[in-house]
Amino acid sequence: VVSEVTIPTYGQSQLVLAPPAKAAIFLVLTVHPGAEDDVRELLADLGGLTRSVGFRHPEKGLSCVAGIGAGLWDRLYDLPRPVGLHPFRELVGPVHTAVSTPGDLLFHLRAVRMDLCFELARQVMIRLADRADVVDEVHGFRYFDERDLLGFVDGTENPAGDDAVAAVRIGDEDPAYAGGSYVIVQKYVHNLTTWDALPVEEQERVIGRRKLSDIEIPDAEKATNSHVALNTIVDADGTEHDIVRDNMPFGAVGTAEFGTYFIGYAATPHVIEQMLRHMFLGNPPGNHDRILDFSTALTGNLFFVPTADFLEDPPTGSPVDPPSEPVPTSPSDPAAVDGSLGIGSLKRSTS
Ligand code: HEM
Repeated sequence: VVSEVTIPTYGQSQLVLAPPAKAAIFLVLTVHPGAEDDVRELLADLGGLTRSVGFRHPEKGLSCVAGIGAGLWDRLYDLPRPVGLHPFRELVGPVHTAVSTPGDLLFHLRAVRMDLCFELARQVMIRLADRADVVDEVHGFRYFDERDLLGFVDGTENPAGDDAVAAVRIGDEDPAYAGGSYVIVQKYVHNLTTWDALPVEEQERVIGRRKLSDIEIPDAEKATNSHVALNTIVDADGTEHDIVRDNMPFGAVGTAEFGTYFIGYAATPHVIEQMLRHMFLGNPPGNHDRILDFSTALTGNLFFVPTADFLEDPPTGSPVDPPSEPVPTSPSDPAAVDGSLGIGSLKRSTS
């Protein structure tokens, strides 16, 4: 029964809202069967490892956020899944697809200097040698003027201060995991040849902002299939739903790889999923985001970001009675008529 679920509320969030970084490493791993204990121990030690590497250069702001995928969550913790945690849902639009790719763990390492990210990533992988495979590794850099490789300033409309906290932090809607967050990542590569062939005014129509000044194009003039128009999520009552992004450019000139690593944090994955539906399926359907005509998503993952306290000291054993479907007891029991209590399932969604 739901009211008997008693998991302590864990307070200290991971550094989702980290200080501005110039460098980042994004590591996505799959975990070998049987390595669950070692992974749990590593996650518990992650704060200590980050301090060991970062304390020597406190001004460089080294941070590491760990996210856990749905499949691994069930293997690591004998606890109900956080309400929004499920495998990343592939979106197949008429033209573009948001792929869903393997990934049990995400490490999002950020600092002012790459060497600190690199050293921490190395220390993490020493602990996971022969226990996990790195299925994706991206080293991102801050480009000049905070621009992405399409040449536009990226991150301007991120919420700040209390608004940022409200956008990313789970609250009373899932008290057992309050203080946690969700994160969605996608690795995009751009076709800079076709992009650079577009006149700047046309590029501005794709994004919805001016390229040099970064000023937003007024709504009346903005294309409905621009990136900004499709990613502005406003309720019927006028409430706008924000997420916190920390995209990073990456690439290699020799192989003409020019990419944006998209990373979005939110208190519920639904907001980011809504944005993705608008981008890939279109809003209205078929009116897809033109940024996708120049950008291909190669990966897609959803992770839950527990609090730092949870990682350090997760509840052990089986502290909860997993909520179960009510079972009718006798034919005279009104609940037995259709086998339900008429209050909907008490089970948490797992798909
Ligand atoms: C805005 C770039 C993918 C969500 C922007 C802006 C740029 C940009 C240049 C305008 C400046 C700003 O406010 O940051 C990119 C690139 C992407 C990408 C290069 C990868 C190809 C995504 C994805 C999502 C997303 C996958 C969500 C699922 C948003 C949101 C805004 C935004 C919410 C702010 C809209 C507003 O309120 O004005 N992006 N983006 N972006 N993007 Fe993206």
